Amino acid sequence: MDNFKVVPFSSLSETVQNLLKSATEVRTKAYCPYSNFSVGSAILTEKDGKIYTGCNIENATMTPCMCAERTAVAKAVSDGYMQFKTVAVVAHQKDFTAPCGVCRQTLSEFRSSNGDIEIYLSKPSLDNVLCTTISQLLPLAYVSYKKDSLP
Ligand code: THU
Repeated sequence: MDNFKVVPFSSLSETVQNLLKSATEVRTKAYCPYSNFSVGSAILTEKDGKIYTGCNIENATMTPCMCAERTAVAKAVSDGYMQFKTVAVVAHQKDFTAPCGVCRQTLSEFRSSNGDIEIYLSKPSLDNVLCTTISQLLPLAYVSYKKDSLP
């Protein structure tokens, strides 16, 4: 099953290109002295089309490490935006850096009104971009029993 495609950066809409550029920019702010692996993320909100960015924030005790995606989510949600249209993630490794399981579940909570979120992954060189969606990355996502089972 094809759950993603890889396309040239130049073929993407200006909106998505801008989101990827924002993720690349915020990546330079990453606080990652333990892994030395910087990640940047940018979220486009459905309402108002606002961009929220986030970088990874690590900690000496390791457990409380914040991924870039969840930093951006925290900023958007605390400003009152809870429906995301698009998310970009930029990091530099051999393959594309895809959101971890915790970030997938976190993003899943804030799907746009069409029930999905577009996800774009790239390296900082912004040459090729992997395009997918949260429903492809997290099929059968957990949904709160509170939403589903109330009488
Ligand atoms: N990391 C992210 O910020 N986002 C991802 O999608 C993958 C991993 C961070 C967490 C940690 O600070 C570093 O990358 C190494 O795992």
